[in-house]
Amino acid sequence: MMILRLALVAIISSSVAAQSASATSLITYIFGDSLTEVGNNNYLQYSLARSDFPWYGIDFSGGQATGRFTNGRTIGDIISTKLGIPSPPPYLSLSRSDDAFLNGINYASGGAGILNETGLYFIQRLTFDDQINCFKKTKDVIRAKIGDRAANKHVNDAMYFIGLGSNDYVNNFLQPFMADGQQYTHDEFVELLTSTLDNQLTTIYKLGARKVIFHGLGPLGCIPSQRVKSKTGMCLKRVNEWVMEFNTGTKKLLEDLNKRLPGAKFAFADTYPAVLDLIDNPTRYGFKVANTSCCNVDTSVGGLCLPNSKMCKNRKDFVFWDAFHPSDSANQILADQLFSSLLSSSSHSPAPAPKNNH
Ligand SMILES: *[C@@H]1O[C@H](CO)[C@@H](O)[C@H](O)[C@H]1NC(C)=O
Ligand SMILES: *[C@@H]1O[C@H](CO)[C@@H](O)[C@H](O)[C@H]1NC(C)=O
Repeated sequence: MMILRLALVAIISSSVAAQSASATSLITYIFGDSLTEVGNNNYLQYSLARSDFPWYGIDFSGGQATGRFTNGRTIGDIISTKLGIPSPPPYLSLSRSDDAFLNGINYASGGAGILNETGLYFIQRLTFDDQINCFKKTKDVIRAKIGDRAANKHVNDAMYFIGLGSNDYVNNFLQPFMADGQQYTHDEFVELLTSTLDNQLTTIYKLGARKVIFHGLGPLGCIPSQRVKSKTGMCLKRVNEWVMEFNTGTKKLLEDLNKRLPGAKFAFADTYPAVLDLIDNPTRYGFKVANTSCCNVDTSVGGLCLPNSKMCKNRKDFVFWDAFHPSDSANQILADQLFSSLLSSSSHSPAPAPKNNH
């Protein structure tokens, strides 16, 4: 774990240093789900995983829904600002002739998982395999624009942020009507997820990715859509234990890949402790409520904020915006912590230390 943390620090510091030295912009590619989507699903006509309606985006610049699944910015938006670059645009918004193809792209899609069958009932979404195919096409476009050698360097030098797996639980394993939860024990399911991820990360490496940061899962048992399944509104302990098993397995996978693939710098960003601390001690961070969402939609079926949903008065008081996704204010805290933990090379404490606000 220490080695992975140092790798993380090395990736970020070397990328930031290279950026200021060469005056060329840092290029980032983002793969993910609704936690990082910036609008791909708006282009999928039949997708049911969408957020292109009020009150999404109410606190985003312009106040309009963009396809982000929160009231404001995603963690990725905030990290991009910290890196001094614009948040990369959604892949599906670009056409091949766009020069924007050379400036980093976001492939994230709400409802997507590591597994193809995850989120099946959203009809359309870009699964991780689909997102990898989009990256492959991206590389073809870049090659056509700047030639083979430059294209290879371009993708080798870029930074890759990957955050997937939440939907493999919330919209697959934990859903009684999906086959995987019936078919597999949890041990078998984690094995399926990590072996699938092994192939996917190897494919991304073969396409040229070297500096990859994988975001581990947060305590999914504590999101409002899971809490409502407990009679007392408590976190679902078993779900949190499962998520931690996934995180442990993925950390190990990344260590293996670093040994197996020459030049690979894959790192695990462990956001679990920071998110749990925020949920356990909301007042320490300036929040009032962490056990229910601002948009009053905590049901075991729904969970997205709809135009006719009742919203809280003060959105800054709530850690959760809807039953699945953190609020803009929570994303700010989490991005601050993630970023400072990435940059503090001398730190010997476990990743993101809680801020003391009183
Ligand atoms: C998932 O779907 C993609 C195409 O979208 C396909 O290439 C891949 O083989 C599928 N993976 C599995 C494990 O079925
Ligand atoms: C959230 O916590 C507060 C204070 O502990 C409690 O009064 C409230 O009932 C809880 N809400 C839910 C939905 O569990």
